[in-house]
Amino acid sequence: MDVEQNEELQLHGGKFYTDSAEYWKKIPPTINGMLGGFGFITKTDIEGSALFLNSLLELPNPPARKYALDCGAGIGRISKSLLTKYFTNVDLVEQNPRFLQEARVLMQICSSRLGILYPLGLQDFTPDVAKYDVIWCQWVLGYLQNDDLVNFFKRCLAGLKPNGLLVIKENVTTSSNIEVDTKDSSITRPLDNYRHIFEKAGFTCIKEQQQTRLPRGLYPVYMFALRPVRPVQSSRISEIDTSKTSNNELDFTF
Ligand SMILES: C[S@@+](CC[C@H](N)C(=O)[O-])C[C@H]1O[C@@H](n2cnc3c(N)ncnc32)[C@H](O)[C@@H]1O
Repeated sequence: MDVEQNEELQLHGGKFYTDSAEYWKKIPPTINGMLGGFGFITKTDIEGSALFLNSLLELPNPPARKYALDCGAGIGRISKSLLTKYFTNVDLVEQNPRFLQEARVLMQICSSRLGILYPLGLQDFTPDVAKYDVIWCQWVLGYLQNDDLVNFFKRCLAGLKPNGLLVIKENVTTSSNIEVDTKDSSITRPLDNYRHIFEKAGFTCIKEQQQTRLPRGLYPVYMFALRPVRPVQSSRISEIDTSKTSNNELDFTF
């Protein structure tokens, strides 16, 4: 992203977030709604993610399989079909409370694995320190401005257990520029922009893979597995900006 684009995004500040919240308020709480009318790709997507996750669990120092966090979880599509099959507890964070309400209904079948539901934007969310084995962010990071994304990643760093991984699955542009979508107030970043952000937040990418078998005409979709460059010591956690609310106070029960 060039400086001008970045400044323009920062200038719009809160409006960037309220506009996307308004957009999502009008979207039905269905798989098709979550996937912008491409609900039929959900099986391919989940299969690709499962292959990727399996490969991470076969690493020499794999993450444990106790706690996962689904970021921008929508109606729990990924939590239900993927994360609860691997992890005994799955927490969800999602800015639209109506989607979380639907997630609770859809996930009745695996409700024993459903943990805390946080009705928050990622820009305002702080994971509990050293709680998660895997933090999964998919098709949501385009709703965060660059600075908020770096700060969110830093808070995720503190939220990971030893051997924990941050997994990203996002659209990327084919050009070297970010592309802005004013309809849902989101941006799509080029690969290099993501790599730069990972590094800035203190992560190293240990595995990167493109999702195959998606229909032509869609953005390329990439999966990344990120590890903290340095293990987070509790003494350093206080340096990370965790001022964004104590989320446990916001646990959402219906
Ligand atoms: C394209 S949908 C993807 C949902 C889910 N990750 C999936 O793949 O099924 C994007 C989701 O991100 C949520 N979202 C948008 N802005 C967000 C923000 N700032 N923080 C958290 N979630 C956000 C939307 O409400 C919506 O549920």
